[in-house]
Amino acid sequence: MATFGILRRSLSTTTTRNAIKNVTVIGGGLMGSGIAQVAAQTGHNVTLVEVNADILKKAESSIANSLGRVAKKLYKDDAKAVKDSDLIVEAIVEKLEIKHKLFKSLDEAAPTKTIFASNTSSLSIGEIASVTNRKDRFGGLHFFNPVPVMKLLEVVRIPETSEETYQALMAWGKAVGKTCITCKDTPGFVVNRLLVPYIAEAIRMMERGDASARDIDIAMKLGAGYPMGPIELADYVGHDTTLSISEGWHKKFPENPLFNICESQRKLVQQGKLGVKSGEGYYKYNK
Ligand SMILES: NC(=O)c1ccc[n+]([C@@H]2O[C@H](COP(=O)([O-])OP(=O)(O)OC[C@H]3O[C@@H](n4cnc5c(N)ncnc54)[C@H](O)[C@@H]3O)[C@@H](O)[C@H]2O)c1
Repeated sequence: MATFGILRRSLSTTTTRNAIKNVTVIGGGLMGSGIAQVAAQTGHNVTLVEVNADILKKAESSIANSLGRVAKKLYKDDAKAVKDSDLIVEAIVEKLEIKHKLFKSLDEAAPTKTIFASNTSSLSIGEIASVTNRKDRFGGLHFFNPVPVMKLLEVVRIPETSEETYQALMAWGKAVGKTCITCKDTPGFVVNRLLVPYIAEAIRMMERGDASARDIDIAMKLGAGYPMGPIELADYVGHDTTLSISEGWHKKFPENPLFNICESQRKLVQQGKLGVKSGEGYYKYNK
């Protein structure tokens, strides 16, 4: 861990009664910085660990902006990030081998009491946990983007997760202001398991020419009361993200037609048309 940048926020004036007080968030990108922010805002001592110095700096300023004057201390050194952690939340790149490497080293470095959690969207929590010797103290904490805004937290139990760990994760989720639901370690948990096939079916409707993108979106907004239509949502989430989730599931469960790949989406990704973030997906956007 010696080469990692570390950002620590300690809110010593705020007290919390829940058992989890010291939290280490690993990965300071989109999700990790949001998780660190909500944890710090709710009175936890938060350490953010990131391999990329520029991203750490960006996370630091976005957290500082939103915390304002409540933020009391800032340490930035190479001290051991997990030494006093009650909970480590991993939010690094969505690659099983990289998560394995990280959790193996964390398992050696962290105290026995430390609970490990992954924020993975599409990988199996059990598979991630398999390289550690603390599966009873392992679970999934699946936050949603943007973390400070989205109220839901999916708390994922693997068969080995102890009742104590599960209760601690639920209590911590509540303490950071989220509404927690519990689910098993199945692909996509609840939200993505429903959302990814739904988006894919909408794309397939469009590919077949059953209806236009705009009409499918209008239909679901006005007919089902959804705030966004599925094609708009696909553009918003990013086609690289959704495609990589579908490809992972399709490879693992080739017999399940719900996980089939949409050819038009694959083509968009090949062309760099990733959706809102690149300025074009199924729709065009003014950057
Ligand atoms: N983007 C979403 O909407 C979303 C929603 C829920 C869950 N997730 C999950 O959250 C995780 C992170 O996603 P993201 O969108 O924040 O990605 P991101 O690319 O914005 O951030 C990942 C960060 O991790 C850093 N990193 C990589 N390896 C590291 C290591 N070994 N140690 C420390 N830092 C490391 C990278 O430098 C990067 O800053 C993924 O598992 C993803 O599936 C994403």
